[in-house]
Amino acid sequence: KARLAILLSGRGSNMLAVARATQTGILRDLAEVAVVFSNRPDAPGLAAAGALGCPTAALPSQGRPRAAFDAEAAALLQQYRPDFVVLAGYMRILSPAFIQPFAGRIVNIHPADTHQHQGLHAYEWAFDNHLPETKITVHLVDEGLDTGPVLAQQTVDLRGAGTLAEVERRGLAVEHELYAQALADLIRSGHRAEKERHAERSRSISPAD
Ligand code: GAR
Repeated sequence: KARLAILLSGRGSNMLAVARATQTGILRDLAEVAVVFSNRPDAPGLAAAGALGCPTAALPSQGRPRAAFDAEAAALLQQYRPDFVVLAGYMRILSPAFIQPFAGRIVNIHPADTHQHQGLHAYEWAFDNHLPETKITVHLVDEGLDTGPVLAQQTVDLRGAGTLAEVERRGLAVEHELYAQALADLIRSGHRAEKERHAERSRSISPAD
């Protein structure tokens, strides 16, 4: 099973969706939660993860220089040997010190099309601009702000959503489904690639006739 380190800074509803999917859902045979980590020891999502039986860890980022904090957080996470780092409302821009040890294995969910909107307050942006729809994006994380390769996108119909709360409600319902699905696809494609490499190796060492 792929080992997931899930990172959050707040409520943790995406963490819950992914963790539950590893317990009883689409990720059941594919992944397990190695740790839920927060840069805020008082994040409600951390308590929720503990209540679900997930290992948890926290390291306060407040007042710390970014590079020093990120290096320490990466070292702490490496002790849990994650195959993927799953950002779930982890409200920090990651420095190279954090990205390098996990390059190509960090996944994020963004509540907008990352080609149209980056950074914070994506639902406010959609609501304030009266968008008829928005797109939830799951993407790999590189060193830019919401610039990494897109893994999955799903449209949210916002017509008739009269309040920001309603926009968020519709969006989050899609986020929770899409994140577990995109992680399942990502892990399966890794398994397929591994099998192909294995088949390739056994072909190349089989004796020629
Ligand atoms: C989610 O809407 C997530 O997509 C968003 O923060 C929220 C966290 O909620 N992330 C970003 O805006 C990242 N730029 P949650 O803690 O309930 O999962």
